[in-house]
Amino acid sequence: MLERKSVYRLLDFGAGIGRLATELAKESPWRLGANLDVHCWEPDPTRRGEMSRVLIDLGVKVTVIEDLSQVEAQSFDFSVLANVLHELPVPIAAEAISQAASLTRPTGEVAIVELCPLLKAEKFAVPYPEAIMKELLSSCNFAARSHSFSILGASAYAVLARRLHPDAGLSAEYVAERIQKTWARLLDDALSSYTSFQSLSGYHDFSVCLQDLTTIASITAHLLGRWPMPSDTAKDSKATPIDLKPPGC
Ligand SMILES: C[S@@+](CC[C@H](N)C(=O)[O-])C[C@H]1O[C@@H](n2cnc3c(N)ncnc32)[C@H](O)[C@@H]1O
Repeated sequence: MLERKSVYRLLDFGAGIGRLATELAKESPWRLGANLDVHCWEPDPTRRGEMSRVLIDLGVKVTVIEDLSQVEAQSFDFSVLANVLHELPVPIAAEAISQAASLTRPTGEVAIVELCPLLKAEKFAVPYPEAIMKELLSSCNFAARSHSFSILGASAYAVLARRLHPDAGLSAEYVAERIQKTWARLLDDALSSYTSFQSLSGYHDFSVCLQDLTTIASITAHLLGRWPMPSDTAKDSKATPIDLKPPGC
């Protein structure tokens, strides 16, 4: 439980066009159980501009952060990464988790919201099952619990994570090592699932295989330095491919 405050500061990290803020604005503080002061960070400047326009048009009062480096450390009660991590290669996902953790106060929570399997086709994506996301966060020294519900055969889940050693810092390198191990396992699981099919009978088998293939292709592309694309890597020097060894190697 978070300590009782009159207003909770929430950071939507990777806010897209502000879907979370829009939905939260529809709820009363009574329904939410708190007054929220919502701040949205979206790194893509085009989307960020669109978000600002959409939120103004809808009359939703939030702060759109223009420069994350100007935001005070440990200044949020909650940071939410909704539908973000499955889209990110290892070093970028690690940086996002580490940044969100450093912007959240020591007794606050980082919430990871994801779908697994994904509901729509995505070219590069590594979906994380709920249990594996919880294990990943535990391995990064968070205490983690989760809530989930089923939607169209997928699990929509939120893992709520609180730092166990908030004073120790959480480096992106440390998180990257943990994600790297998690990816080795996800690759192994996807290969095992894919090869377990003798033939595909029906849509369900097809969609499972497609998800497996997306995971296999995305992790392999990352290993071979093709995701992020070299043109993206030039824009972001942190996005260098890393060595990923399968389990047991
Ligand atoms: C699928 S959208 C989800 C948007 C929003 N959270 C939602 O649920 O509607 C993923 C978002 O993550 C953003 N993103 C990409 N890289 C990011 C990073 N390193 N840190 C934070 N967000 C990132 C993308 O620009 C995109 O807007």
